[in-house]
Amino acid sequence: MTHLWSGRFDTAPDAAAFEFGASFRFDRRLFEDDVTGSAAWARALKGAGVLTAEETRQIEETLTAILDAARANPAFVSGDDEDVHSFVERQLVERLGDAGRRLHTGRSRNEQVSLDLRLYLRRRIPLLQRAVAAVVEALVLQAESAGDALMPSFTHFRPAQPVLVAHFFLSHVAPLRRDFVRLGGARAEADALPLGSGAIAGTAYPIDVDTLARDLGFSRIVENSMDASSDRDFAATFLYACAMTMVHLSRLAEDLIILCGDEHKFFELSDALSTGSSMMPQKKNPDPLELVRGKSGRAIGHLVAMLTTIKGLPTGYNKDLQEDKEAVFGAEDTLAGCLAVVRSVGGGLTLNRARAASAASGMMLATDVADYLVGKGMPFRRAHEVVGALVRKLIAEGRDFETLSLDEWRAASDLCEADVIARITPAVSVQAKRTPQSTAPDAVRARLADVRQWLDGIDGLC
Ligand code: ARG
Repeated sequence: MTHLWSGRFDTAPDAAAFEFGASFRFDRRLFEDDVTGSAAWARALKGAGVLTAEETRQIEETLTAILDAARANPAFVSGDDEDVHSFVERQLVERLGDAGRRLHTGRSRNEQVSLDLRLYLRRRIPLLQRAVAAVVEALVLQAESAGDALMPSFTHFRPAQPVLVAHFFLSHVAPLRRDFVRLGGARAEADALPLGSGAIAGTAYPIDVDTLARDLGFSRIVENSMDASSDRDFAATFLYACAMTMVHLSRLAEDLIILCGDEHKFFELSDALSTGSSMMPQKKNPDPLELVRGKSGRAIGHLVAMLTTIKGLPTGYNKDLQEDKEAVFGAEDTLAGCLAVVRSVGGGLTLNRARAASAASGMMLATDVADYLVGKGMPFRRAHEVVGALVRKLIAEGRDFETLSLDEWRAASDLCEADVIARITPAVSVQAKRTPQSTAPDAVRARLADVRQWLDGIDGLC
């Protein structure tokens, strides 16, 4: 086959080196975007007086035919072309001859590949955002059905204070909502037209880039053609957004692996989303969650790989940048797969109310006892000491607060009155919280309503 640069060389490229440098194997995913960008470029060339109206019509028509051929048969997008840009051009020239050969006037693959990746991210990121929202929805349903159910929270992975189960689910909703926004930010960063940059110095044809940007739906034009030819910040930003989301999914997976485990059993995983053991008949393993946790490594790896690729590049396009695509596609696939699995696992959890509530009691109420004494006038530091001593005594006797008689309460502090017995319970503990971000049932209900409203408006947000 002839290559895009065959005029310059007198020998054909070394087959292995060509294969090594080819990206068609993976950048075929940009096919649709390459066609979209090429049709818009043809219109821009017409505006610049380079193509006639007839040539432009032929090019647009042929590009549509190529797109239809690919839709009818995905295998159509293949061949021994170097990359997707060469493939589209070859198809065009095979069908149109010279009119096809004119399309690349004033345009470089350097800007074309940036354009395609930007168009790709612009149409694909909203799908990831919807998948994030679907996980949020599954967690919100769990939070809603948990009602006022209680469970312990942990700090240093030691029992800390009682919280509503709904509060726990919403603690994973909050980071996912940030991820949604972060992904939207990556999309906004990609939203700049690079065409008009040429290979590096700009283009010598009077291309109306504002019209072209509008044609392609971009909200702005890149600032500098030299920067544009090697700028992959938008790809790195996307990879960061993916890595961060994966980190959050990984932590949710870790929480569920622990809390569904035999030691806690606050939740039960659905059988359909668990696996058995080939040898130990009693086992019910959380493999899907473990894989989500494990795959976060890939997503982080893609980000680190991209940053490493970019960091030493001299200004202007360098072939190193071709590495951007496998990172972007890999992160996208990993995240999409994990979001789908977490949504199913999250949706399939069954709450074990009694077990979670009974674990939310006991020594975890120590702070509430201290707060009770503070309410009766004792300085907090003093109350902390008094309750600390009481805890030590109860542990030695193998008891907890609920077993204390009023006399024993009074022995601990004469500020204790009859109301202490009703006040030191997990339910009162959560009700006593006063801030909007707390686990107080009213606060949690308000947050839940807020997330519901956000979910209802999701179509307008991505
Ligand atoms: N396949 C190349 C890439 O992915 C397209 C740009 C090629 N440009 C060039 N000057 N070799 O980066």
